[in-house]
Amino acid sequence: MARTCLITGASQGIGRATAVRLSREPWLDNIVLVARSAAGLEATVEACRREAGQSPAIHPMPYDLSQLDGIPDLVARIHEACGSIDVLLNIAGYADPKSLLDTTSENLVTTFTVNVFAMLILSREVVRWMQGRPAKILNIASTAGITARPGWVAYAASKAAVVSLSQTLSEELAGTGIKVYTISPGRTATELRRKLAPEEDPTTIMQPDAVADVIAMLVGDRERTLDGQNIIVREQR
Ligand SMILES: NC(=O)c1ccc[n+]([C@@H]2O[C@H](COP(=O)([O-])OP(=O)(O)OC[C@H]3O[C@@H](n4cnc5c(N)ncnc54)[C@H](OP(=O)(O)O)[C@@H]3O)[C@@H](O)[C@H]2O)c1
Repeated sequence: MARTCLITGASQGIGRATAVRLSREPWLDNIVLVARSAAGLEATVEACRREAGQSPAIHPMPYDLSQLDGIPDLVARIHEACGSIDVLLNIAGYADPKSLLDTTSENLVTTFTVNVFAMLILSREVVRWMQGRPAKILNIASTAGITARPGWVAYAASKAAVVSLSQTLSEELAGTGIKVYTISPGRTATELRRKLAPEEDPTTIMQPDAVADVIAMLVGDRERTLDGQNIIVREQR
């Protein structure tokens, strides 16, 4: 049966690097790319084509994940187009770093909606279709969710929530054949990191393809021993 990987946050950064890396995997038949920017997703499709030619099939599906009520329909459309969803990579993320006194309700709601609520609703909907098949979910948290980040309170708290929800899902889904991974990357050279640390030289920190390599290892068939634990991903440069 054809195998499908759904990647959120695929219009740039770690999500794009992961799509390009996974497009080289012979076991994958379909890669579905989700983010808001249609142009960003098209650029990812092009990058995958340059990497791997015409196989696997790449399906860009622009969607704003803060629209929680539309997620069930999105997942149903993906399942209809591809026939299965075998791997879900929850990579989409939002950060607008603010100190406590500058943190608005809007900042809190947007951060938690994209980073936590959409991840949970998407996981719920995908699990409905995964039942009875071996499958994997991988959620991106952050080292910001494990150690204090003064000035980034909403983002850091949302990533701590990702660690917690992933551990809960891992236990709840144990025995169903669905494995849940959490990775917590350290500083990675992307647009989101530029917002968090505008003064930093991006060439001095981890690049998105290093994170993509870890994701490819985890979702590949040879990985059979890890589940649930929060895996820190850092590169010494
Ligand atoms: N970079 C780091 O240092 C670092 C470290 C630890 C963890 N992380 C995590 O890694 C993940 C990827 O981030 P990145 O560093 O690669 O940043 P990025 O380049 O800014 O990518 C963020 C992705 O999330 C998507 N996204 C944001 N809001 C969305 C929405 N409402 N609906 C759909 N998609 C949305 C963006 O696409 P659109 O704008 O097109 O919607 C984009 O594809 C995030 O969860 C982030 O928290 C990053």
